[in-house]
Amino acid sequence: MENVQAYIQEHKDRFLEELMEWLAIPSISADPKHKPDVLKAAEWLADKLRRAGVDRAVVEPTAGHPIVYAEKMIDPARPTVLVYGHYDVQPPDPLELWDSGPFEPVIKKTDLHPDGAIFARGACDDKGQVYMHVKAFEAMMENDALPCNVKFMYEGEEEVGSENLGKYCEANKDKLTSDVILISDTAIIANDVPTITVGLRGLSYVEVEVIGPNRDLHSGVYGGAVANPVNVLCDMIASLIDENGHITIPGFYDDVEEVSAEDRAEMNRAPFDETAYKKDLDIAAVQGEKGYTTMERTSIRPSLDVNGIWGGYTGEGAKTVLPSEAHAKISMRLVPHQDSHKITELFAKHFTSIAPPSVRVKVTPHHGGEPVVTPTDTPEYRAASRAMEKTYGKTPIPLRTGGSIPIVALFEEVLGVKSVLMGFGLDSDSIHSPNEHYGLFNFYKGIETIPYYYQYYADLKS
Ligand code: BES
Ligand code: MN
Ligand code: MN
Repeated sequence: MENVQAYIQEHKDRFLEELMEWLAIPSISADPKHKPDVLKAAEWLADKLRRAGVDRAVVEPTAGHPIVYAEKMIDPARPTVLVYGHYDVQPPDPLELWDSGPFEPVIKKTDLHPDGAIFARGACDDKGQVYMHVKAFEAMMENDALPCNVKFMYEGEEEVGSENLGKYCEANKDKLTSDVILISDTAIIANDVPTITVGLRGLSYVEVEVIGPNRDLHSGVYGGAVANPVNVLCDMIASLIDENGHITIPGFYDDVEEVSAEDRAEMNRAPFDETAYKKDLDIAAVQGEKGYTTMERTSIRPSLDVNGIWGGYTGEGAKTVLPSEAHAKISMRLVPHQDSHKITELFAKHFTSIAPPSVRVKVTPHHGGEPVVTPTDTPEYRAASRAMEKTYGKTPIPLRTGGSIPIVALFEEVLGVKSVLMGFGLDSDSIHSPNEHYGLFNFYKGIETIPYYYQYYADLKS
């Protein structure tokens, strides 16, 4: 292990240069224009895996973007770790809010990253975290210190719903046999507060349309007499959450798992700094469901948010118009044991029922996913806990997060294997936002921690 760690220190500059080269490829899965770039990023990754020493690495086509699969089998008697991550990234818009090009990675210091951070789309979510695993693997291979079999499975469609990865798992169950799925696509509380994610929220995502008169109208000639779809949509959305921060859709909370007072007390012992949280976001106050703390509101409680809303005239100056339609995209984050399909149905039924007779409403479901909670009393978790304790000098805190990785529930359902969510980002790294970045401290800490995971996991399983 000393050799592995020494190798990492010796090659750390090259690791960073390689990551920056990869981040320059705009692998935006949502944008069809970038399909060749997504493929290029996949081939780049497969090439790096080959050079790191896998037995084989393939770029497997799907109906959408390809899956990069690679493996190194050392001994069938040893445990097998399946590493999952995604090499696709979110669109960078709004571009004008970036201080440097989203695909021109640069290193800059920040308050939370005094050693510097790489600024680029995908730096933290998830290319930077994916690359830690490739480099940790290289360091173990170069020093004859790989104690487990490894399978790598990287997709290019996580940010657009992982539709083809689900099918790929169904079709490749035997090939994907493993003892644990190891994922770095989540965050720690702070660089001196290591954390292991033990829960992800589910997701129901819908698009709604409110349709009024058959054409845009003069807002003076018709205003006051004909329903304005934008006004109506705002009313309808406002009614979805009451004054206590409760979602008003009938049946919405029926299946929500009530967490015991004991567990809630335990969760709230995590060193979360609400003052720093507000300062980072430049807000004077937090807001949410009555009776719950900020940490609870983003982990054990569901939420509903408008992601985008449009309609009518939004150009320069003023145009007096009563628009004929209005649109919004709405996401609902779900907790155990809510079911995304059921919630989508409840939403559609309720949203349609509250529409006044002056408009028509259309609800279109998008992709969704189920929530997960992972156990802490397993060798899979314990290996991660020990590995982080080794490199951070502190026992990591198990914590549920508010984000979603829908494929994790599917892994459990289809492959029958549980995941360990050992991520190294910070919530303040601006993933999905302008100026996304990933700390160099976090990148290197990840590379250093991963080989310990393999070592401790192999020990615990033998
Ligand atoms: N890595 C994130 C999820 C995440 C973020 C987990 C922060 C924990 C902390 C992932 O890439 C993501 O963005 N997921 C989407 C869901 C997907 C269906 C688009 C999300 O949570 O919005
Ligand atoms: Mn991600
Ligand atoms: Mn993401």
